[in-house]
Amino acid sequence: FEVAWDAEAADKGGWSSFMAKEINDQPDAVANTIRGRLHDGQVEIPELTALGDEVLRNIDRIIIIACGTASYAGMTGTYAIEQWARVPVEVQLSHEFRYRDPVLTDRTLLISVSQSGETMDTLMAVKYAVERGVKTISVCNTQSATIPRESHAAVYTHAGPEVAVASTKAYVAQITALYLIGLHIARVRGTMSAEETQQAAHQLDELPEKFREAVATHEQVAQLAHWMADTRSVLFLGRHVGYPTALEGALKLKEIAYIHAEGFAAGELKHGPIALIDHGQPVFVIVPSPRTAPIMHSKVVSNIQEIRARGARVIAIVEVGDTSVLPYADDVIRLPLADALFEPLLQVVPLQWFALELSTAKGLDVDQPRNLAKSVTVE
Ligand code: G6P
Repeated sequence: FEVAWDAEAADKGGWSSFMAKEINDQPDAVANTIRGRLHDGQVEIPELTALGDEVLRNIDRIIIIACGTASYAGMTGTYAIEQWARVPVEVQLSHEFRYRDPVLTDRTLLISVSQSGETMDTLMAVKYAVERGVKTISVCNTQSATIPRESHAAVYTHAGPEVAVASTKAYVAQITALYLIGLHIARVRGTMSAEETQQAAHQLDELPEKFREAVATHEQVAQLAHWMADTRSVLFLGRHVGYPTALEGALKLKEIAYIHAEGFAAGELKHGPIALIDHGQPVFVIVPSPRTAPIMHSKVVSNIQEIRARGARVIAIVEVGDTSVLPYADDVIRLPLADALFEPLLQVVPLQWFALELSTAKGLDVDQPRNLAKSVTVE
């Protein structure tokens, strides 16, 4: 009597794909990113303390560089770090950064974001900055990879190995790490009140538990994907931190379901994208919290009314208890309450499930999409 044993299936922990396992791993991934960095309601990252408080007090600009999904984590980070640390923060694609002859001074801080730590364009951008005297921090998921070694400080995400080509748990861990960096810099610079600091720490503390609820949207999203298996194009709308989430939702669909998808800033709708809205066009709308972002919330609800009037099929992602979209949405996905800046971490989860389920419905290889590599080590 022999039991058939498949090492790969065992690694997948009973899931049908590594991506499914990795989406499900997100509560732990985020908990591991936070571990050891939050003490008594204050964020302190030892690797940044080693870099020196003086460096962080002196900076007048932060540039985040990354490619692909990591660039959307970076984009999400720009909103939070700028709000908390009161320093202008921008994100640039690594492969664009070097060719624009960027203005860099000894007061510029460069933060690279790379799951693998080996993406060639990001590595070259880091080297370019280091050669010009810029201090660099690497946000990376892979111990002793090349990019953290070439940087002045490394903040590891500790999300565990990510096998699926399309990034999921590394993405949310990257956003978490960037938020921790933002809170660390804010503490050093004294730019947040005690109450704001406490509130942010509380949000971080509660994240892993909220992730468990976000992951539990799987069943509902799977049914939605089942009904939409023939969809040829999907649009995603978001505002503020919902905008990079929309871009990431669209990227996931392109990557693993080979479906044309675009993410838009909701405010841009009337400047072009609304012309795409036709009868039955599916649009995911990422709705900000009405409690913590009431003005943005009402604007996004207006956007939903505009596209619905033109025949869009609206799938709204809302916080639990928000009934304002019920009259206009065909489907509503509910997520636990979180402050506005923390919502994108949860809102991306149903979008990950949606891409995975559409890919599965089309009979595609979820973990190994055509033409893509996990780590792009050529320029
Ligand atoms: C490739 C992968 C993406 C990833 C990007 C950046 O394109 O397919 O999933 O987001 O590289 O990778 P990095 O390792 O630098 O985060």
